[in-house]
Amino acid sequence: MSVGVIATAHDFRRACQEARTDGELALVPTMGYLHGGHQSLIQAAALRAPTVAVTIFVNPTQFGPAEDLSRYPRNIEGDLRKCEQAGATFVFAPKGPEEMYPPGFQTWVEPGPLAVPLEGEKRPGHFRGVVTIVTKFFALSRADCAFFGEKDYQQLLVIRRMNADLNLGVEVIGRPIMRESDGLAMSSRNAYLSPDERARATALWRALKAVRNAFKAGEVQPARLEELARQTLLADGLRVDYAEVRDPVELQRPEKVDAASRLLIAAFAGKTRLIDNGAIGAAAAGGLAATPFGFCEQG
Ligand code: PAJ
Repeated sequence: MSVGVIATAHDFRRACQEARTDGELALVPTMGYLHGGHQSLIQAAALRAPTVAVTIFVNPTQFGPAEDLSRYPRNIEGDLRKCEQAGATFVFAPKGPEEMYPPGFQTWVEPGPLAVPLEGEKRPGHFRGVVTIVTKFFALSRADCAFFGEKDYQQLLVIRRMNADLNLGVEVIGRPIMRESDGLAMSSRNAYLSPDERARATALWRALKAVRNAFKAGEVQPARLEELARQTLLADGLRVDYAEVRDPVELQRPEKVDAASRLLIAAFAGKTRLIDNGAIGAAAAGGLAATPFGFCEQG
């Protein structure tokens, strides 16, 4: 049986309404060009609820004017196969941007301080676009739960806050980062990398491991660990956008690093911007475990 595709907001609302009479509905919002990271979310959703709705929508309002909206990779046929393989029930792929932003659209969700640093600083307006579209998907689906990856750690926190602040009542579930066997975090944007950039892109994972090793050896000064991360990235010719240590809840800079503190990285390999993050106290030599849709940290 192939997965059903819905093209209009009206039909998506109706399909979700009907599905909810069978039990819980789980939502997995994506921008498509799906990979193992997305599939791991769909699989987790399928284990949780009898109906899994996946959205595939390259949301224009979360892209800045100089960003890659028009060349964002797309492959709807491949995406539908991957949705089905991972256990999706149906897919909402709005037939165009105007399906979600019809003429006259003028109401936005404004995120707060969690959306200010890091991605918020480097990509002004990005999180406003993210929380607005996710609110719309929550409203259309009235999902019981929704699955997001820790790959976009700040996004996960901002969406959790939005869901609580607006009383949307969705259980927001975060899932671990899926990686390639060499540690590179899976991302739709990895498709942009040349073979040489692809090889150098593992520096993000190596920077995270270097910081974990230094923490294990006793280093607790955020500035020293950030410098170590920066040097690791630079050594492989990546351009560092940020490499920062933050607490995992408010994203403030801690005075001293503890095991739960996170390193968050954004760096350019050529023109491609990559992000990664992880808890600094995780076992540095913990290795990666194979899962059906890629590799992830053990523990
Ligand atoms: P997108 O980048 O397509 O990601 C969709 C979901 O997949 C997000 O929750 C993201 O964190 C998760 N994801 C991406 N790479 C992952 C990986 N390697 N391991 C685990 N999860 C991963 O994030 C967005 O789309 C958009 O901002 C969206 C929330 C859909 C709003 O437009």
